Amino acid sequence: MVGQVGVPGNGARAVPGGGSAMWACGGRRRRRLLGGLLMLLLVAVALRRFNLTGLVPMQLKGRTLGLQARDSQFFLEGKPFRIFGGSVHYFRVPREYWKDRLIKLKSCGLNTVTTYVPWNLHEPIRGTFDFTKNLDLKAFIKTAEEVGLWVILRPGPYICSEWDLGGLPSWLLQDPEMHLRSTYKGFTDAVDYYFDHLIPQVVRLQYKNGGPIIAVQVENEYGSYAEDPDYMAYMKAALLERKIVELLLTSDNKDGLTSGFVSGALATINFQKMDPGIMTYLGTLQNNMPKMVMEYWTGWFDSWGGPHNVFDVDEMMTTVEKVIKSGASINFYMFHGGTNFGFMNGALHFDEYKATITSYDYDAVLTESGDYTPKFFRLRELFTSITETNWPLPPVILNKASYGAILMQQCVSLWEVLPSLLEPVKSEQPINMENLPVNNGNGQAFGYTLYETVIPGGGELHSHNHIRDRAQVFVNSLYIGYLDYTMQQLSIPNGQGYRVLRLLVENCGRVNYGRSLNNQRKGLIGDIFLNKTSLRNFKIYSLEMEPRFIESLHKTFPWSAVPDSAVGPMFFRGTLHVQQTPRDTYLKLEGWEKGVVFVNGKNLGRYWKIGPQETLYLPATWLKQGNNEIIVFEERIAGRIIQSTDLPFLGRIHYVS
Ligand SMILES: *[C@@H]1O[C@H](CO)[C@@H](O)[C@H](O)[C@H]1NC(C)=O
Repeated sequence: MVGQVGVPGNGARAVPGGGSAMWACGGRRRRRLLGGLLMLLLVAVALRRFNLTGLVPMQLKGRTLGLQARDSQFFLEGKPFRIFGGSVHYFRVPREYWKDRLIKLKSCGLNTVTTYVPWNLHEPIRGTFDFTKNLDLKAFIKTAEEVGLWVILRPGPYICSEWDLGGLPSWLLQDPEMHLRSTYKGFTDAVDYYFDHLIPQVVRLQYKNGGPIIAVQVENEYGSYAEDPDYMAYMKAALLERKIVELLLTSDNKDGLTSGFVSGALATINFQKMDPGIMTYLGTLQNNMPKMVMEYWTGWFDSWGGPHNVFDVDEMMTTVEKVIKSGASINFYMFHGGTNFGFMNGALHFDEYKATITSYDYDAVLTESGDYTPKFFRLRELFTSITETNWPLPPVILNKASYGAILMQQCVSLWEVLPSLLEPVKSEQPINMENLPVNNGNGQAFGYTLYETVIPGGGELHSHNHIRDRAQVFVNSLYIGYLDYTMQQLSIPNGQGYRVLRLLVENCGRVNYGRSLNNQRKGLIGDIFLNKTSLRNFKIYSLEMEPRFIESLHKTFPWSAVPDSAVGPMFFRGTLHVQQTPRDTYLKLEGWEKGVVFVNGKNLGRYWKIGPQETLYLPATWLKQGNNEIIVFEERIAGRIIQSTDLPFLGRIHYVS
């Protein structure tokens, strides 16, 4: 799929993929160059003995010892080894691009890919598993092996990862007593059943069975949660019982290092800045063990309403060089972030609720679309100089396309499509989305839920903070306002006749980190009051907006021409015509307020005018030659066109430090 090009000197050929401002190097650069070169030399000398030639998956024959942690270092098949890894999540990258991203990882001088495994995608319905297409974990691991990379698997079950509920399926929350990430039987039974299906997928791909998996992580950052002292031992045993035989690891931030530890697994650390003494502290926890930074954060994720976070490349290199010099192993999180396609993003809720954006560019080593950044070339310079292997040359960048303006030609209102498309659930009291009797009893996992009830008059509508996460309020089709965590009250005007109060509630993403995991039920999670009387007798519509639903939209309804000023909630459709072989592009939704884009029926992700993200990455693999159908679900104020451009814009930059 991708050709090879000569190695450009120091990033000269880098294609600006992450917004040109991202490329600005500080004035410190020149001053640091000399220091950097000196450091490289020192590091190179210190590492001469790490000859990784021959320690490549396909070539390594004798397979008895595996990855060992002893005498303060790693050994692979008895030879000193260091893990130089990068994280790429197969579920955030189109399958067609897996190989390209992994070759880029290898050509950066790295030897290992690490990936999480998202339970909520692999078991969307309790007892129904999916390991196909973009979720074909075995194929991803085999691709890594072909490329010549080792694999560290991070199967969770909890993965954090800025992913809805940290990867846990939302149907777990149907149980009102649920204690996620504990030895509560309702949780461990579900984990056991999932692992019974997941682990056999990977057992034969372990090192000792001839495959590339050299280590497996037990759970994820449990030290920062630490609700149940028996939990980690249970999770470790769950792996061992199912024939996981490679080295076990745990991964924690500094604060969780002590409590996240489980005997029999090597503790590793996560950070962006290296606190003085942190490596020594890691050493005191486990004598004579190798040190590893499991997540070296190359950038940071973004939240709706915030800036685009960027981490300075010089600052990154300074720390990376320190880590390398200390003799530790390192894994770059993320090497390539990719995209939170659809409704899969997570959220944080400490002082306030903040949903993660659709892009998972992360200001990582590669951009969201797989392009090189200055971080790539700086790391490549470092790693190819300290290891003796024939690293592949960086593949050429795929050109992006600018397909121009896509005119939205037709529209249909949500109110028009609802009655004939969806059968509502009738309930006296509100029901949260996970407990709705839909999807064979698994409830609704993602998207919007519409709650309707007839009201006898106007008055003060109060949510008592029972809305998760954001509701648009309508009387019949008249927009009244919105309710969320901070906005909890609205005045409903008095009126006559039959009036329906409608709350269109959006699940903006479940929290993926912190202690509030058990409280992530969405929709209406309790009573809503009008003049202090709780509302009753609801019709509840579940709007997950899966491909089948989007498909049914245009079969059933007369779409009409778009009026001059269209307001949502409404579906719009237009055509993106692709003349030749499709290329990656970015969709810019200027003039639109908030909603979701569907490409050929598939949910690309959310947009929101509060930013920071202004363009959605649309991979060529989602497009076909000829006509491609673009559907936009706009909640409020619609634009008229969508612009297809060849440059992303992820928003106003904020340097994290
Ligand atoms: C709520 O109270 C207001 C003010 O007293 C009144 O006008 C309105 O009719 C009441 N609404 C209902 C539904 O009783």
